[in-house]
Amino acid sequence: MTSLALAAALVAAGAGAAELPRMAQKDGRHALLVDGAPFTMLAAQAHNSSNYVAALPKVWAAVADANANTLEIPVAWEQVEPTEGKFDFSYVDTLVAQARERNVRLVLLWFGTWKNTGPSYVPEWVKFNNARFPRMVDEGGKPIYCLSPHGTETLKADRKAFVELMKHLKKIDGDKHTVIMVQVQNEVGTYGWARDYGAAAQAAFNQPVPAEVLKLQKAPVPGAARGTWKQVYGDYAEQYFHTWAIASYIEEIAKAGRAVYDLPMFVNNALRDAVEPLAPWKKNFASGGPTYDVIGIYKAAAPHIDVAGPDIYEPASNKVTATLDKFKRPDNALFVPEIGNAAGYARYAYAVLGRGAIGFAPFGIDYADYSNFPLGAKATDRTMVEPFGTVFGVFRPMMRQWAQWAYDGRTHGVAEGDDRAPQSFTMRGWKATVSFREWQFGEAKYFSHIQDRPAGTETPNGGVAVAQIGDNEFIVVGQRARIKFEGAGANDGKPSMYARVEEGQFDYKGRWVMERNWNGDQTDYGLNFMARPTVLRVKLGTY
Ligand code: DGJ
Repeated sequence: MTSLALAAALVAAGAGAAELPRMAQKDGRHALLVDGAPFTMLAAQAHNSSNYVAALPKVWAAVADANANTLEIPVAWEQVEPTEGKFDFSYVDTLVAQARERNVRLVLLWFGTWKNTGPSYVPEWVKFNNARFPRMVDEGGKPIYCLSPHGTETLKADRKAFVELMKHLKKIDGDKHTVIMVQVQNEVGTYGWARDYGAAAQAAFNQPVPAEVLKLQKAPVPGAARGTWKQVYGDYAEQYFHTWAIASYIEEIAKAGRAVYDLPMFVNNALRDAVEPLAPWKKNFASGGPTYDVIGIYKAAAPHIDVAGPDIYEPASNKVTATLDKFKRPDNALFVPEIGNAAGYARYAYAVLGRGAIGFAPFGIDYADYSNFPLGAKATDRTMVEPFGTVFGVFRPMMRQWAQWAYDGRTHGVAEGDDRAPQSFTMRGWKATVSFREWQFGEAKYFSHIQDRPAGTETPNGGVAVAQIGDNEFIVVGQRARIKFEGAGANDGKPSMYARVEEGQFDYKGRWVMERNWNGDQTDYGLNFMARPTVLRVKLGTY
């Protein structure tokens, strides 16, 4: 059976509906299995304060316009346990029921001890009781804004609330799996301080580095093979130690939660610069978070966390690409749990899904009348959602097949770079070159007297993703770009031509439905995609 037919059969059979969502891995690639088959989260994240029943209508309206199959939305510790020991999950009940009505899956974001590093979402009875729930202290012993990862009572209390949430989810959703993943805390770490300098932290800092950390986290500048954090990691020791402390705290929470209800779990990261050369922390990012350089520490200290995902709010294409390539690892599935909702970010869906990611989620897809500019869009209405909605709209019907192809290592993708230059990638037997700002007819070299460029290409917004579904057969999805194929590998140097270029789409049963066959002007100068994302099924041949 071809992988296309297999994926279609799985979709049709609704195979594995009883199976819990889980991560799967083969040959260094990853899949999120939902109801027993790979699933791509074409997701939208709601605004931070939309985690209330009254706010949901404005969330669902935007999720629908985005064509998202998954909503990421917070569940705050302060809202489920406003009084210690008294739990209220009525919001979660409504959320899950409404998601089911809309055929949308949920990723819940546990806003607990740390939200963007601070304790703003802990209940009031935690916020100000610093004797029981200690804050980190600076080198002079003064408390700072962050709760300490060495606070044993804080850990106990957060863990208890999280376990109650997971028990509740199991009760209301254990058979349906509307909730498919849970994020534990949000953008952890500390701004301005490398670590906690309190007594418990100090004692731990002088202990030997645990063996599993030594195994998975190499020192950037080789130090002692074993010993204290300082001896092994030198100038990186404080950041690495704080990372280990936070990851270990998260592990306790995730482990306890999964013991009652075993959903896949992840953490998200406020990034450090992925392009500048690696150097010791100098207050330039949140120390202790799962930045690309310390994913090994998270893997060692938090085995119940499946994925560390980048939150992308820096639009420069070289930084986005470098970030994706650093977070995609044999031991870490690529998942972009947040990306800015400005139009220019939509094209990165092609680069992310082409790299075989398990999900991609613009942040602030919600009509709550709040703009995240300059991190995201100025607009707060449908015009903000539309660039994502059009891309998700073409991927959504074939989402199951795409996830399977990604898992099988058949997918590739590029987003237009800020330099607007062509980009190439090689597949089995074929090389593809994607170019941007081309007119549809002819080659630029024939028309050197034409200086202007197609309307709508003033800023970069093109992208193409390709799945190689057979030796000479491809599913190509794109917008505002031109793609050309030439023989490579076994076909290197051989002349080739299109056998078929069908425009169409997959139906919900996973069957290809052809609308028309492109030929003549539509194929003579490569395959040209306009503003509307389009799906092509392309067959090539050599002679
Ligand atoms: C990243 C955080 O994870 C989100 O919760 C939100 O605060 C955005 N930054 C900013 O819009």
